[in-house]
Amino acid sequence: MNQSRTQVAIVGGGPAGLLLSHLLHLAGVESIVVERQTRAYVLSRVRAGVLEWGTVGILRDAGLADRMDREGKIHDGTAITWGGGKRLFLDIKQHTGRHFMAYGQTLMQEDLDSAIDRWGGTIVEEAENVMPHDIETDTPWVSYTKDGEEYRIDCDFVAGCDGYHGVSRTVIPAGVLREYERVYPFGWLGILSETPPLPELIYCNSPRGFALASMRNPMLSRYYLQVSLEDDIDEWPDDRFWDEISRRYPDDIAADIVTGPSVEKSIAPIRSYVAEPMRHGRLFLAGDAAHIVPPTGAKGLNLAVSDVYYLSRALIEYYATGGWGLLDGYSDTALHRVWNAVRFSWWLTTTLHRFPDQGEFGQRIQESELDYLSTSDAYMAAAAEQYAGLPL
Ligand code: APR
Ligand code: PHB
Repeated sequence: MNQSRTQVAIVGGGPAGLLLSHLLHLAGVESIVVERQTRAYVLSRVRAGVLEWGTVGILRDAGLADRMDREGKIHDGTAITWGGGKRLFLDIKQHTGRHFMAYGQTLMQEDLDSAIDRWGGTIVEEAENVMPHDIETDTPWVSYTKDGEEYRIDCDFVAGCDGYHGVSRTVIPAGVLREYERVYPFGWLGILSETPPLPELIYCNSPRGFALASMRNPMLSRYYLQVSLEDDIDEWPDDRFWDEISRRYPDDIAADIVTGPSVEKSIAPIRSYVAEPMRHGRLFLAGDAAHIVPPTGAKGLNLAVSDVYYLSRALIEYYATGGWGLLDGYSDTALHRVWNAVRFSWWLTTTLHRFPDQGEFGQRIQESELDYLSTSDAYMAAAAEQYAGLPL
């Protein structure tokens, strides 16, 4: 058995785990990240692309923003279209004084990776059978195997940043863990194409189903279509994808969409999920390990960042003063923000997607909701505040 010791053992090297390691390091707190996949694999996953202004601030304060500030695109708001040509602009700048940044999660992950390499942090990759132990005691530890050898990390705290399919949540006793879930009856088919994107993000409610036009950089577009969960990726060659996009968007918007071969294509199921509490003993969950939101509204990555912000603050306070105040409050503080984002993502998903049983009545209700949103300054202000993300 190979033994080592650190202050915080971090399970999972996605954005949550790496950002936590980096924020702790800036305050002189040691950690080791244990990741199941190779770092190259983690970097290759195509994920979200919208950073709330609060997230941007955290990355800037942590010295992680050089490339983001060069290559990310600042937006003042986002558009929604419905009813065969109606259109609104959710003006976040006007209503909140903030903006958001279009910047791919993949790039953020690369920035974190290189920052951690620069200060010489430890990211163990290809760790198998990772398992937290004794989280209800003062001496928790994490075990794993790598290249056939067994390892043990003794620590003060375990941070479960291992995503929805991770192991950390499973060590919380069944009598303690409460789970809340909604599975939506459709998925998102997403593509990347090396074509210039539309200048704004445009969400689309159409009787044929939801669509979204987004971007990664001036020559990389990201588009999504709501599809049936039974659909197979092979049933969606590029021609069919672009044809369907142009049927869902109003003609003038469709005419501006530059099509081209896809360089990535995948179908993701859509769900809302929350696990409570986000702490048990000396185990603290952060990011997708504790909650999943539908991608509509792009809250997933931003919630991972806000969890990690709260958790890093709490751990830093503990090491500076021995105080448990913020650690004891972590689960409630994080969950308050999580449920708000879960509710907003559910609302935006429900308002923009075609549900199997909604009928003509449901379609009209959605369109009326969007009509009202577009004419009410009060409703717009509320929606803009939510899209922008509540202050930390
Ligand atoms: N042991 C070690 N690592 C694990 C284990 C395990 N048993 N299970 C999962 N992991 C790793 C995964 O390989 C992954 O790299 O944990 C990491 C979790 O990363 P993410 O799933 O990206 O979750 P998180 O860091 O919370 O990021 C939040 O925001 O945009 C959303 O879902 C999107 O990934 C995004 C998330
Ligand atoms: C994306 O660009 O991937 C994206 C943008 C906005 C969303 C969801 C996804 O609401």
